[in-house]
Amino acid sequence: MDLHILDHRLRVTCISKSGLQRYTHPLIKLIFLRNRTRCKFFSLTETPENYTVVLDEEGFKELQASEHLQVEGSTWLPLNVVSNGNTSSSSQAAGVTKITKSVIAPLAEQHVSVFMLSTYQTDFILVRDQQPRHLQHALHRTLVEEFSIFREERGEFLPVHSQDACDGSQRNGRDAAHATVHPVLVPENQFCVMSLDPETLPAIATTLIDVLFYSSSFKEDASADPERIKFFSFPADLLFTSSSGELWRMVRIGGQPLGFDECGIVAQISQPLAESDISAYYISTFSFDHALVPEEDIESVSEMLQTQRKDIST
Ligand code: ARG
Repeated sequence: MDLHILDHRLRVTCISKSGLQRYTHPLIKLIFLRNRTRCKFFSLTETPENYTVVLDEEGFKELQASEHLQVEGSTWLPLNVVSNGNTSSSSQAAGVTKITKSVIAPLAEQHVSVFMLSTYQTDFILVRDQQPRHLQHALHRTLVEEFSIFREERGEFLPVHSQDACDGSQRNGRDAAHATVHPVLVPENQFCVMSLDPETLPAIATTLIDVLFYSSSFKEDASADPERIKFFSFPADLLFTSSSGELWRMVRIGGQPLGFDECGIVAQISQPLAESDISAYYISTFSFDHALVPEEDIESVSEMLQTQRKDIST
């Protein structure tokens, strides 16, 4: 399998619910009029708390600073696993389940904090651009066992050679992985995971505009129901068409906002799922993390996570 380090320097930002109006213009441009901007990576996720927008530096320029916009301080690099066809993986499971053992768990063990963005088609694992040197080496050493690593430069993928033979630094300076137990919430509603061909975007633009910018009119009753949660994620780099009409349920991770420094949260959730070979999409947002699992698995998943939580906290 290949691991691509994509040529995007990403910012993780958050627009408050009340600030959306102010950003409608740039968001319409970023989502629908993509040839009017030089933005090449864009993702927007609406949660009951806020809107998380992840975008490259070109796109970031479109967002004017205001008290409604929060910006995480670092730049992030997206990693992307590409299977080059010859994988003998027995697993049919989709999403993060496929990359848990090879990427997510090793990164957590190396204390690398990630920010996950699953899409229908692929999973982006965001890591901070400026990793301390010993982490960079550790990361490389870990991933090189499983992957051929390529760095994207001006559209070309160049192999990254391991230079860590000369690396004498031992990893230290960080606490051992401490398993913080974050509460999980399982809302009642069902979710669809879809993808669309960019060509069909104009045809559904009005619907999307409605969902994104005007649907708050029925938000009152929706948010009054604590069992349901509003969640809409729109990554722009979609390619494939349509999914099979399966429905998904959500596990939201975090009681307090999770921040960006803690590592191992994704691993904690995705490892038990991977062990049971349950498909999962995993979407980090500014405040919380979200895992989507097939509807029929939600009961076993929430049971699994509850027992895991008990085990850790005792
Ligand atoms: N950094 C966490 C991890 O490495 C995942 C992201 C949690 N933070 C957030 N704001 N969603 O597992």
